[in-house]
Amino acid sequence: MASGSIRKKISNSNGSSSLSKHMRKISIVLLFLVIYVASIPSNVSSVSGSSVGIYSIKVVNEYPHDPRAFTQGLLYSGNDTLFESTGLNGQSSVRKVSLHTGKVEAIHKLPHVIFGEGLTLIHDRLYQVIWKEKTGFIYDRYNLSKVKKFTHQMKDGWGLATDGKVLYGSDGTSTLYQMDPQTLKVIKKNIVKYKDHEVFNLNELEYINGEIWANVWQTDCIARISTKDGTVLSWILLPKLREGLIASGHSGIDVLNGIAWDKDNNRIFVTGKRWPKIYEIKLLPSTKEAASRGGGVEKLCFRQRF
Ligand SMILES: *[C@@H]1O[C@H](CO)[C@@H](O)[C@H](O)[C@H]1NC(C)=O
Ligand SMILES: *[C@@H]1O[C@H](CO)[C@@H](O)[C@H](O)[C@H]1NC(C)=O
Repeated sequence: MASGSIRKKISNSNGSSSLSKHMRKISIVLLFLVIYVASIPSNVSSVSGSSVGIYSIKVVNEYPHDPRAFTQGLLYSGNDTLFESTGLNGQSSVRKVSLHTGKVEAIHKLPHVIFGEGLTLIHDRLYQVIWKEKTGFIYDRYNLSKVKKFTHQMKDGWGLATDGKVLYGSDGTSTLYQMDPQTLKVIKKNIVKYKDHEVFNLNELEYINGEIWANVWQTDCIARISTKDGTVLSWILLPKLREGLIASGHSGIDVLNGIAWDKDNNRIFVTGKRWPKIYEIKLLPSTKEAASRGGGVEKLCFRQRF
């Protein structure tokens, strides 16, 4: 080990006593440095092997968001433009939104009986799933006109995302689905797990840099999931966003929901249901104290099966 080899080297040196004293001082400093580095929690290091990283966030930009939008799906489509799906009966829609102004530039309102859920964009087609149904809709991205209705094989419709080839889906269970966007057939399913515990209530999804990021319903957590096997690679803890909004008087807000990724500029946006803001965030490795705040991941990020 580094500390041992340093000590050995110094004890073997035959220099003057003042030099060896000096070296001993250095060796003690180095020894403490080694002990300190070894004591840094593993979550600070990057995700590898079995160590699961925990991140907090830094807000780098804030943008306005329609505070009536019950956000169920969010995506970035380039040119500072977002597409958003909203829920609730009578308030469901697919909309094109300007990032900077929050202005709804185009909207397709859904009939009262439909409760909008996850949304994703493949080429020129927007895919939307709806709650408590095994159906969904495809829209033209340029005029939001409905192209067709589809049927899927998930238990329910909660979240959607894509890497441009595969359609990823969630249905409020712990299953992450992979579907063929042409046939809507399931081609792969994985149970999402963190340390052998299933993560239920997977909600809004986003494909980011080879991973699926998922809002876990009714929590302030985002799970970063491996598309290979469903393992949670790391957690992002965002309680300060909701708490900050409440502290500044926004008492009517609902849960964190909505993740969008600007691939070209590597910007990540998050919002929530009826939140007045969209936040551009950067991840920060969490300190041990911050990671265990509020009971840690187990308490903050897990909820009973819906
Ligand atoms: C980008 O968005 C602006 C404002 O909505 C629009 O005028 C412009 O044509 C768009 N550019 C492209 C390349 O889509
Ligand atoms: C929407 O645009 C598509 C082409 O992208 C066109 O075929 C369709 O007729 C348009 N629908 C409406 C309602 O304008």
